[in-house]
Amino acid sequence: MKEQLEAIRSAALDSIAGTKAAADLEALRVKYLGKKGELTAVLKQMGSLSAELRPVMGQMANDVRAAVETAIESQSAILAQKALEAKLEAETVDVTIPGKHQEVGHKHPMYTVLDEIKEIFLNMGFEIMDGPEIEQADYNFTKLNTPDDHPAREWSDTFYLDEESKTLLRTQTSPMQIRAMETYGVPIRMISPGRVYRKDEVDATHSPMFHQIEGLVVDKGITMADLKGTLNAVIREIYGPNTVTRFRPHHFPFTEPSCEVDIQCHKCGGVGCPTCKGEGWIEVLGAGMVHPKVLRNCGIDPEEYSGFAFGMGLERLAMGQFKISDLRLIFENDIRFLSQF
Ligand code: DAH
Repeated sequence: MKEQLEAIRSAALDSIAGTKAAADLEALRVKYLGKKGELTAVLKQMGSLSAELRPVMGQMANDVRAAVETAIESQSAILAQKALEAKLEAETVDVTIPGKHQEVGHKHPMYTVLDEIKEIFLNMGFEIMDGPEIEQADYNFTKLNTPDDHPAREWSDTFYLDEESKTLLRTQTSPMQIRAMETYGVPIRMISPGRVYRKDEVDATHSPMFHQIEGLVVDKGITMADLKGTLNAVIREIYGPNTVTRFRPHHFPFTEPSCEVDIQCHKCGGVGCPTCKGEGWIEVLGAGMVHPKVLRNCGIDPEEYSGFAFGMGLERLAMGQFKISDLRLIFENDIRFLSQF
């Protein structure tokens, strides 16, 4: 029996040391220590031993069991450690592999200009208003003192949405003057940027949809000097502190007097070049003192209050600022164009 136990011990320790996986180790545990295992089988023979030999063999059998258990435990730890090392090895990160390039978008150049302009007006105490693109002819024309026979009212110029010519896609942001005064009353100081629509063929300088920024200031004692001072300050913020401006008489139904504002061409200094089409001046906005009839249409007494209004084209501003030669580029969403800004 002694030889049997010795044989079991050395065979068990050998095979345990040779295992490569936890499952093999478990199989060996069953093989040697299980209920039907080899050591158990030997212990079952104990009854046939003499009284002197029994405790000696019993002790030896316990030693073998303890040795096998210890061997299994330590081999189990070794295998776990090896498995961890193999896993770490397999998961090695090669930090020298180039990363995946992430394309990050950015603001459209026109919105860059719009945000800049909003900032300028916010700093001057203006509020920003949003208004409907589907507008009533009343607001787009009538309350803005536009005569019934004005050419802008023609179906050939304006997108009407009904047979009676009552509803339309606004042709200008000016109806926001009316909405602002009706909603908030006076005094008021606001700008309102947004989309406008006209029946224009698409070309390098025209689009049936474009953007304007409307402005309105109404209070007691507002004069043409306020109009000039405000617009000069804004223009110099946008185009630089030395920009020369010119206020040229013009006609708009909703302002009196009305003007267009030009800046001296920054490219040629007023001599005339392709940028200013030989004029020396570039038109940047329309403006004027709010017509007394418009104030009255909004329930405001023109004897007590006066104001000025202005409107500018956003695309034209962006084209000037970023030297964009063709209006279509602004709307085409061509990534090769947009990624230049
Ligand atoms: N609404 C005019 C246009 O589309 C621009 C304009 C001119 C707006 C003079 C104004 C203004 O507020 O006072 O041509």
